[in-house]
Amino acid sequence: MTKVRPEYLAICLSTDRRDARSAIERDLAMTSDPTTQTLEHLGAKTPDVVAEKFAGVRQRFDQEAAGSSDRENLQAFVLRWTGRKAGVLTQITSNWLKTAPADLKPAVGQELNKLKAHVESVIAERQLAIEAASEQTASARDKIDLSLPGIERAYGTRHLIRQTFEELQQIFIAIGFSVVQGPEIETPYYNFEALNIPEHHPARDNMDTFYIEGARNSHLLRTHTSPMQIRTMEKEKPPVRIVVPGKVYRRDNPDATHGYMFHQIEGLAVDTDITFCDFKGTVEYFAREFLGPKTKTRLRPSYFPFTEPSAEVDATCHVCGGKGCRVCKFSGWIELFGAGMVNPAVYGFVKYDPDRLSGFAFGMGVDRLAMMKYGVTEVPLLFQNDLRFLQQFP
Ligand code: PHE
Repeated sequence: MTKVRPEYLAICLSTDRRDARSAIERDLAMTSDPTTQTLEHLGAKTPDVVAEKFAGVRQRFDQEAAGSSDRENLQAFVLRWTGRKAGVLTQITSNWLKTAPADLKPAVGQELNKLKAHVESVIAERQLAIEAASEQTASARDKIDLSLPGIERAYGTRHLIRQTFEELQQIFIAIGFSVVQGPEIETPYYNFEALNIPEHHPARDNMDTFYIEGARNSHLLRTHTSPMQIRTMEKEKPPVRIVVPGKVYRRDNPDATHGYMFHQIEGLAVDTDITFCDFKGTVEYFAREFLGPKTKTRLRPSYFPFTEPSAEVDATCHVCGGKGCRVCKFSGWIELFGAGMVNPAVYGFVKYDPDRLSGFAFGMGVDRLAMMKYGVTEVPLLFQNDLRFLQQFP
């Protein structure tokens, strides 16, 4: 008697006729499946006929194997043939082998083993093939097309101020100066006293700064890089030749030409026989290197408590060459930096012998120099990190 499988019923009830038909066909195939019957029932009584029956099954298997070309097909196929409960091999074992008469059993067993080996090897083969094919499509998907344009990454550049620092340092390194750096938080002693600026000295007025509250020995943000003159001379014996790049702070109200922080590079040269000529020569060398070989310099009298005499160093305008233009406000000159011969009073603070030693010092505003040289008119532009500005200084 043919049992009606539930899925067959379900499909028969469905409105899709094609589904129903194929279900009926499958079911018919099921009932005519020889492996559901005993060998006796099939009339196989000799080893030859047994072999024939097995050959039929094998043929069916090979056909099905050829049709299972993807992962899901294969899975169902494997289950159909090797499934423990209802697989064809199990069915053959119980319907053909177990029911076989004793004289036929060895022949059935042999044929079954051959079939099993065949089934297993074909399945393994198909699995490998499908695996390889899916790997191939995956790697084709991942393949990099070298002919496509690449992704360009912006590397970034050094900031204009950093570039200027390096330019300035290089100019002085070339004539034997070395670069040192110092703390931005200073004591009033290094920032003022040891530089010959006593408390209540009017020179402190234009260097009003930020004091750190609550510190036991009061601290401040340095107003210039000059404290490093003292720190260096305290530590090192003469000769001294240093430049000091760094940030400095003043309580200025921010506008187009001021901020509360700016950059300086300090210079100090002290030795046994440094003269005003060395000072002037160094200044001229610097101006030519920084602004061009035709640049001339002049010194104007000035005042700093730690230099004597003191001077403002001017250079002929790098834009008009001294004729007068908007950049130099039609004077032909531009102000470069403050400088002078080291005041012998300073040597007293660092235990240098003022009778034997002499030297010069200078302090440049790096932001000013960069703005002047590269035609930048507003200080805030330097620190707003606007790429449209920064990209102009690659
Ligand atoms: N420190 C001074 C300033 O900031 C500049 C300077 C340095 C002057 C060294 C003379 C010598 O204004």
